[in-house]
Amino acid sequence: MNLFVANWKMHLTRAEARAYAAELGGRIGDGLEGRELVLAPPFTAFDAARDPRGRWSLASQNVATETAGPMTGEVSAGMAADAGCRYAIVGHSERRRLFGEDGDVLSRKLRRCREAGLVPIYCVGETQEERDADLTSATLIRQIETLRGDLAEAPLVVAYEPVWAIGTGRAASPADAAAARVHLASLLASRRDLRILYGGSVTPENARDLLEATGGDGFLVGGASLSASAFEAIARA
Ligand code: PGA
Repeated sequence: MNLFVANWKMHLTRAEARAYAAELGGRIGDGLEGRELVLAPPFTAFDAARDPRGRWSLASQNVATETAGPMTGEVSAGMAADAGCRYAIVGHSERRRLFGEDGDVLSRKLRRCREAGLVPIYCVGETQEERDADLTSATLIRQIETLRGDLAEAPLVVAYEPVWAIGTGRAASPADAAAARVHLASLLASRRDLRILYGGSVTPENARDLLEATGGDGFLVGGASLSASAFEAIARA
């Protein structure tokens, strides 16, 4: 089933999240057939963003590397699951860039997700510099290596998010997104339950072309997902 994930990043108060949920619920009625919707709010807005009717589920934007302990400011995968999350975003480029997360840290986060029963949404993608240096393929191979210890049978979502396309208004071309998808699918050929999303400046205007060209499984949406109507339009694309 196609998957549409709204990554709110560090946006929306609880009141705003409640208004968003009410609007989204009103727009989708009994839900969008054949499409799975997920909201990834800040931790503080899990309750406000939840749908009592289950038409969408929740994702944590991050999880800690450990299960519990003296890690001031962190939230564990188990806590996110306890708060009602089904998914967790792991390895978003903002975490990689701003918090230095990579390799070992991310593989520990993936393990914590599995222990807690959360399905990881594992993000990969090359920077502009890597792209210019013709290192896109090598970057994806290195980032996919992090999944080495993860069970091939476990459900997995991978989001291809070229860093230069995130928040820039400059989405990957459908051809580039399709090429990356083919490459990732071949790197992950052993996976039994895999969905590959595209992320990076997805809008209601470009969603259909990107989805068609890539034969994609859906999107991880940042900026445009802050509007319930835009997120709905993308999911209907
Ligand atoms: P964007 O963000 O849609 O604002 O480019 C995507 C993401 O960071 O997941």
